[in-house]
Amino acid sequence: MTNHLMPTYRQLPVSFDRGDGIYIWDSEGNRYLDALSGISVTSLGHNHPAVTQAITQQAARLLHTSNLYHIENQQKLADLLCEVSGMEQAFFSNSGAEANEAAIKLARLYGHKHDIKKPEIVVMQGSFHGRTMATLSATGNRKVQAGFEPLVSGFLRAPFNDIEALKTIARSNRNVVAILLEPVQGEGGINIPDPGYLKAIRDICDEYNWLMMLDEIQTGMARSGKMFAFQHEAITPDVVTLAKALGNGIPIGACLANAKAANIFQPGNHGSTFGGNPFACRVALTVSSIMRDQKLAENAQARGKQLTDYLRQQLKDNRDIVEIRNLGLLVGIELKQNCAEIVALALQNRLLINVTADKVIRLLPPLIITAEQTIELADILIQTINQFSNR
Ligand SMILES: Cc1ncc(COP(=O)(O)O)c(C=O)c1O
Repeated sequence: MTNHLMPTYRQLPVSFDRGDGIYIWDSEGNRYLDALSGISVTSLGHNHPAVTQAITQQAARLLHTSNLYHIENQQKLADLLCEVSGMEQAFFSNSGAEANEAAIKLARLYGHKHDIKKPEIVVMQGSFHGRTMATLSATGNRKVQAGFEPLVSGFLRAPFNDIEALKTIARSNRNVVAILLEPVQGEGGINIPDPGYLKAIRDICDEYNWLMMLDEIQTGMARSGKMFAFQHEAITPDVVTLAKALGNGIPIGACLANAKAANIFQPGNHGSTFGGNPFACRVALTVSSIMRDQKLAENAQARGKQLTDYLRQQLKDNRDIVEIRNLGLLVGIELKQNCAEIVALALQNRLLINVTADKVIRLLPPLIITAEQTIELADILIQTINQFSNR
């Protein structure tokens, strides 16, 4: 039979039919533990009753108007996101890449407003910011860029977790207007920088008048053990981008701005037909309120610690393990060898996981996971890793 889908994804031979909490069932009725949450999206779990209610109520009321009109849900969502982040303003998009596009445009406009005609943005090796032309150009992974040249210019690359390299760039380059980075690199392999790294970047940005722009698309919305990963270091960035878990599966992204990044965009500078529509904002408002009110960041922190302590203990004799690292429920288990095949093994064991940067098993379980379910997840994973090692 002809397949009418463009073959952009390498897909596993399974198709899911329904979900409930941390579990998901395939079309044959088999139950799996979802330790990936659709790559950090369904943080409240599948089929969350309050989210379903928000979806059905808003669908029965009003889906879309246009940004030509005032949208109350958008206003309320902006208020809530600013309350929990300490930021000042929000622009809503439909995806992570679009949230980053907004940040990149904002940084360029900021540069032009300061008479910098060729503004440049510092980005990191090993980063991932999306698949649009500007965001793939910002991404520090040649595989994402290859074949799509010419890339968008105006990005300068620096090694991750290296403050001296940033200082060198700052001293020698007058065109830099901003730095864009993930507080923890997700696609890059759950790379967690040293404590103090973000604070040191904040200081450089203040000294050189750069915008500090954090891509919290994967780390944000309580996943890291704080509502936003930057809150681990008690700093406030100038720009933060969000998406993924913000809608628990309903597409929505956001670019938040603060201080010197606020009020850069003026009418006509940026926009989106669907961005921030009444429906997506109503759902995101529900999702964000639940995360705040039920203190899911605290659960992420506790379960992340429980999970990694247990894995370290149980896998201490497994010689394939290089390191088990986490920030909240962003968990990476680095192996000595490429381990892409482990995803299929886990699937056979009814566990959904993923491998990133070739050697890192990535776990991004729903933030509602209980202590008991955490052990259930860990036990299936340990069995899978040991099977992989003994194959
Ligand atoms: C850190 C980061 N930025 C940006 C993106 C792109 O988001 P989207 O796929 O919604 O465009 C992702 C997606 O994985 C991400 O992890």
